[in-house]
Amino acid sequence: MRVAFLGPPGAGKGTQARDLAQEWGVLHLATGDMLREAVTAGTALGREAKGHMDQGALVPDDVIIRMMAERLGAADAVRGFILDGFPRTIAQAEALARLLKDLGQTLDTVVYFDVTEPELLRRLTGRRVCRACGHTYHVTSSPPTRAGVCDACGGELYQREDDGEATVRNRLEVYRRQTEPLLDYYRQRSLLAPVSGEGPVATIRDAIRTSVGAAR
Ligand code: AP5
Repeated sequence: MRVAFLGPPGAGKGTQARDLAQEWGVLHLATGDMLREAVTAGTALGREAKGHMDQGALVPDDVIIRMMAERLGAADAVRGFILDGFPRTIAQAEALARLLKDLGQTLDTVVYFDVTEPELLRRLTGRRVCRACGHTYHVTSSPPTRAGVCDACGGELYQREDDGEATVRNRLEVYRRQTEPLLDYYRQRSLLAPVSGEGPVATIRDAIRTSVGAAR
């Protein structure tokens, strides 16, 4: 199973990818999470990425492509993956195709999460994330039992620095300009599987399973 999840910020890619990767026994490769880990660790990659991320801009293609070439070439990626947040530009999509070709692999499906802009704004500005395990909550639609505390592991919940309203608006604009052209790119290659990203999480999960031919 080699699948990419494509959609605007806040579409629910991470929420779905975490559970489905576990269910399918494949890796969940989230470029945003990888970059945030590098920022926290203070590596050269993290220092380069931080300024772009804080503004809601994309990290340069060459940086992302190098990071993903290393990750996809690792032994544990052979059993399959869900790409969450990559590719995000045509240049990244072309690099991914080359990388997979060199590895003798192909991408099976690109699942596109369709969500309206007011809903994206509502979700992102209300999102809270566990510092310890990465579980995601929403202050009104999926709040934790105790405010500020993760139900799954007891960790502290925080608001991502790029989830303030002004930065969210910039991220949505960046998405429209740089990432939306990928819809046509993958449609032309008969890889695009659109699903509605609105409604109950479980219903969306069923639609994704069906779209990748893994309904059970
Ligand atoms: P990244 O971390 O990838 O952010 P994103 O794509 O903007 O996506 P999000 O994580 O914000 O949203 P999501 O779709 O995963 O939604 P979630 O499931 O959390 O990237 C951050 C930054 O890193 C970028 O801005 C860029 O700088 C850099 N970067 C990353 N990848 C890059 C790349 N390839 N190239 C260049 N730069 C890159 O859900 C959101 C909220 O909605 C949560 O509160 C959740 O509980 C709630 N929710 C989920 N599903 C539902 C539902 N069905 N109903 C109601 N609420 C829901």
